[in-house]
Amino acid sequence: MKAKKIVSFVLAGIMALSMAACGSGSSGSSSNGGASKTTSGSGKAGKTVGISMPTKSLERWNRDGSYLKKQFEDKGYKVELTYSDNKSAQQNNDIEGLIADKVDILVVAAIDGEALSQVLGQAKEANIPVISYDRLIMNTDSISYYVSFDNYTVGKLQGEYIRDQLDLDNAGDKTYNIEFTGGDPADNNAGFFFNGAMDVLKPYIDKGTLKVPSGQTEFDQCATAQWDTATAMKRFQNILGSYYSGGTQLDAALCSNDSTALGVTQAIESDYAGKNSVIITGQDGDEANLKNIVDGKQSMTVYKAVANEAVVTLDLAVAIMNGEKPDDKLISSSGWSFDCSYDTDSYDNGTGKIPSYLLVPTVVTKDNMDKELVDTGYYTKGSDGYLKAVG
Ligand code: GAL
Repeated sequence: MKAKKIVSFVLAGIMALSMAACGSGSSGSSSNGGASKTTSGSGKAGKTVGISMPTKSLERWNRDGSYLKKQFEDKGYKVELTYSDNKSAQQNNDIEGLIADKVDILVVAAIDGEALSQVLGQAKEANIPVISYDRLIMNTDSISYYVSFDNYTVGKLQGEYIRDQLDLDNAGDKTYNIEFTGGDPADNNAGFFFNGAMDVLKPYIDKGTLKVPSGQTEFDQCATAQWDTATAMKRFQNILGSYYSGGTQLDAALCSNDSTALGVTQAIESDYAGKNSVIITGQDGDEANLKNIVDGKQSMTVYKAVANEAVVTLDLAVAIMNGEKPDDKLISSSGWSFDCSYDTDSYDNGTGKIPSYLLVPTVVTKDNMDKELVDTGYYTKGSDGYLKAVG
């Protein structure tokens, strides 16, 4: 079952949300992306929301945490926000702590989607509902809902961008070389991104229009543990050294997100002998990547408005805490100023299909960056021409 609603875009509202979120960044953070916990808020009818984020070392999760915290606090809820330094054992401990603190609901973005069944079993026993945030948590019947973006479409947009830039449909006998960099195998999203892109590009590989000199076209061969920039860079340096040192031209590098795109861009700068500009994709709109797009080093990013993901999570969590059983009607009753669909088909976590609220990702390039990111209030543009995220 799918339901969709489009309400006209209310710039002022988004600006207000964005501005409100500005400066709400969690205190107690460590500069090296370490674990941290912040507690605050007055508590609506004594209710507390436990938020477990994966890491501060990847830019987007800082924005997610800060938007979520601000959203709930503005409605009078108390918030406990933890970051687990990309360490799965740490996230288990952090969630145990939130359960011990008797939070009323948990919002969890998993580090390892397969590693939370036991601790979330404890949440279920304690009657604490769990929203799986952005990444689907696998093999547990303790989660009630999933809030994310349409992850398959993220990959599809990346693949389509490469297809269109290389004009693959009109390539004739011309061939192009491409390499793939995927995400973290522990993150259920990573497969969706990779498959979305591959489904667009594989027909051209099969036809011979696209060649993959490394031969690495399986997700497992292209994956990047923890979405780590240095890991992506090293793998790509090896690929360039092994398959491109003899003057072979690299035309496109499909990267599933911005942190891996950064590593691939660094590898190309240091180890690629060719003079052509390589098409490089990404995802998230991280500031360093937007700078690279302005500077012509990265071609595009798929932007996900995490401010809106926080809004959906808030309204969903409030409905659950009020004892409702939200479904597609949450979309119409909430009157969100952005697209969202209710999907009860696409995400099976191994215990059954998880009802999902999915937001819509957007392609951002140098050409539409100001319109999509600055005019909408998500970023400000500095006098140096580079963008800075609000919130
Ligand atoms: C994914 C998320 C992406 C990206 C990546 C690295 O789960 O959907 O937006 O941030 O993790 O953290």
